[in-house]
Amino acid sequence: MTGSPRVLAADSGIAEAASVLRTGGLVAFPTETVYGLGANALDPRAAARIFEAKARPSFDPLITHLADAAELEKLVGVVPPAVATLAERFWPGPLTLIVDRPAAIPPIVTSGLATMAVRVPDHTYARALIAEAGVPVAAPSANRFGQLSPTRAEHVVRGMGSAVDVVLDGGPTRCGIESTIVDARGERPVVLRLGALPLEALEEAVGPVTVRPGSSGQPVAPGTLAAHYAPRTPLRLASGGEPPAADGVRRGFLAFREPAAGDWAAVEVLSAAGDLTEAAARLFDALHELDATGVGEIVVEPVPEVGVGRAINDRLRRAAATWQPAD
Ligand code: TXA
Ligand code: MG
Repeated sequence: MTGSPRVLAADSGIAEAASVLRTGGLVAFPTETVYGLGANALDPRAAARIFEAKARPSFDPLITHLADAAELEKLVGVVPPAVATLAERFWPGPLTLIVDRPAAIPPIVTSGLATMAVRVPDHTYARALIAEAGVPVAAPSANRFGQLSPTRAEHVVRGMGSAVDVVLDGGPTRCGIESTIVDARGERPVVLRLGALPLEALEEAVGPVTVRPGSSGQPVAPGTLAAHYAPRTPLRLASGGEPPAADGVRRGFLAFREPAAGDWAAVEVLSAAGDLTEAAARLFDALHELDATGVGEIVVEPVPEVGVGRAINDRLRRAAATWQPAD
């Protein structure tokens, strides 16, 4: 990447970053999930800059971010009861809800869809920024299309360079994995993307849900494309805990609790305590680290398929799919 964006400390940089948003610029900002690449969601030209900066296909709709749950009704009017229930229960938080696109939001934001994805991030600086800008903020993850999501300001600077005007540095993100996307407009809520809000929490609030990742967006939803969230280094999922093959290839290992035996060139452990929340928070950072070591292959073991572990495994399968035939 050529050039560097302006990096501002999140506590003192809000006013300046908000004015960049208001004047059509791009601001990368921390949320509780990952860093977002924000633009004024009411301004089609600003939104267009997001697609350009990310090299994101125009069929991949953006999530609109609000400062406060009360803003939802002001923007879209009355929402279906289950949508309202979920917003009330989980906002601010890592849950994105699908609603009808209001006329104020230009079609480019939703890639022409009649629906809009929207959430209120649970992050002091993100909400302060949106409130100060005084407009809804369209923001995908602040990475180039298909690449690892950023959980630190440095990841954004490295990945996006001067394609973004300002990076608001608020330190590492707490959840480390993107929001869960739910379409609760119909009879039974449908999970379109597994994410930081666990299925168990959703079901406790609204009863049984259908999980159908791969059905958001058009023609498919991006964070749900088979190959996505990928490091540059080929990545392979291995459940066995086998040592690296002695074929001269330097390999890195991404372990859940402890490294498999053997001569790994680099090792990252997601959570020695076996805590899935900690593992999610470390996931993309660990992959960025392994990617930077220059190993020939990254071997990863899946984590237990429960709670946020489901979303971790989902991201790992998609990262691996870039290098293996997608199913
Ligand atoms: O945690 C997050 O959600 C982060 C932070 C920055 O908020 N954002 C994020 O955005 O992950 P992005 O663009 O990387 O992923 C947005 C996902 C895409 O898979 C997109 O297809 C889906 O949301 N999406 C957006 N609008 C939609 C809609 N109207 N219907 C279905 N899916 C939609
Ligand atoms: Mg993304």
